[in-house]
Amino acid sequence: MDVLVIGSGGREHALAWKLRQSPQVGRLFVGPGNAGTAKTATNVALDAGDHQAVIDFCKAEKIGLVVIGPEVPLVAGLADDLRDASILVFGPSKAAAQLEGSKAFTKALCDEMNIPTAAYGRFADLGAALAYLETHPAPIVIKADGLAAGKGVTVAMTDNEAEEAVRACFDGEFGAAGAEVVIEEFLTGEEASLFAISDGKSYRLLATAQDHKRAHDGDVGPNTGGMGAYSPAPVMTDELLAQAEREIIAPTVAGMAARGTPFQGVLYAGLMLTDKGPKLIEYNARFGDPETQVLMPRLKSNLMDLLLGSAKGDLGNAELEWHPEVALTVVMASNGYPGSYKKGTPISGLHQDFGPDVTIFHAGTSSDNGQVLATGGRVLNVTAMGSSVSDAQRRAYAAIDRIDWPGGFCRRDIGYRAINREQG
Ligand code: AMP
Ligand code: GLY
Repeated sequence: MDVLVIGSGGREHALAWKLRQSPQVGRLFVGPGNAGTAKTATNVALDAGDHQAVIDFCKAEKIGLVVIGPEVPLVAGLADDLRDASILVFGPSKAAAQLEGSKAFTKALCDEMNIPTAAYGRFADLGAALAYLETHPAPIVIKADGLAAGKGVTVAMTDNEAEEAVRACFDGEFGAAGAEVVIEEFLTGEEASLFAISDGKSYRLLATAQDHKRAHDGDVGPNTGGMGAYSPAPVMTDELLAQAEREIIAPTVAGMAARGTPFQGVLYAGLMLTDKGPKLIEYNARFGDPETQVLMPRLKSNLMDLLLGSAKGDLGNAELEWHPEVALTVVMASNGYPGSYKKGTPISGLHQDFGPDVTIFHAGTSSDNGQVLATGGRVLNVTAMGSSVSDAQRRAYAAIDRIDWPGGFCRRDIGYRAINREQG
């Protein structure tokens, strides 16, 4: 079966890399892809915002399955338009992608299904939001309702900051995404991510991971799309995992089905492990980036079987198998990211043999006559497998030290929480 993966990041490179290992995958396309996916698959210049162009390509090439990577096309309803054109697609409908597309939607589902989450209020006007802040002092969290590329959340440590964040939303800083605002209780604990794949009725847990959102070592600096990750997250004990499954994942799948908007795709739960147990911080309706770059190397099972099961609405009795090793990925980003950065800086040293435990997934790269150039903020994901987080970390940084890219930087402490745990 011929497959098209939509997207151009490290997540899509990792998905394509894993799909390439599935015997039932014939031709593999990535649209638009990057210099890494060009080695694993065939890149096609597709704009995911142009649904008709995607449909036309799929019809012309007789694509058997479309795998949608990023959230924007999901929330825009690309999966619905493909299904309407009788094309099989992995990824939730527009209605189900509201789990990521609207914080207020997810909060309402949590109320309905008794899913543990932060207490909150939702507001469509400034006056009411400011009045709520009067009775709910900082620390408090202000969230633009809609998709804001990870920038719509302010953890306000002072009342002033909270008020400014609320005003910024209603002043249109996040465009339509800020027309509604969710104000929520500040939760404390360690964060972890839990991934599950659903066919709309049933689900399978995939794995846990931990991301590193801040740009610099020690979790300081501006928020980014994610600077590195590892899987599994040892902070998620078997007990916490069972609790999160029972109290969060299972009622979400059941609640979405009961509403008539079954969720078919990957549920990515951002959790806060509070002293009262796991609480849902947010849902994403897709695979994580860079978490996919650690999930795919750990996955032993055939990815295509899982994606097809979800897409067709029947995961059947698919059982998941995982390699016992830990995977850790370090993101290399352009100097200046997440602020402004120079485009087109050359990267050398990628053609070496890094050994069987290291895989480099590309994100913002292009190739100019064989020379790899950095074209985006997040550029490379250097992933290593190891017997422990420390071991995987050592291997990842050893590989990074052999890559020559003066235009880029990375964090040097990815995995530190788990390593502190390993070292007791
Ligand atoms: P989100 O985009 O919803 O994942 O939020 C971005 C980040 O803000 C999360 O990863 C948390 O670090 C933080 N955050 C969000 N909601 C809360 C909350 N209720 N309490 C504490 N931190 C939060
Ligand atoms: N790693 C964060 C995200 O995928 O949203």
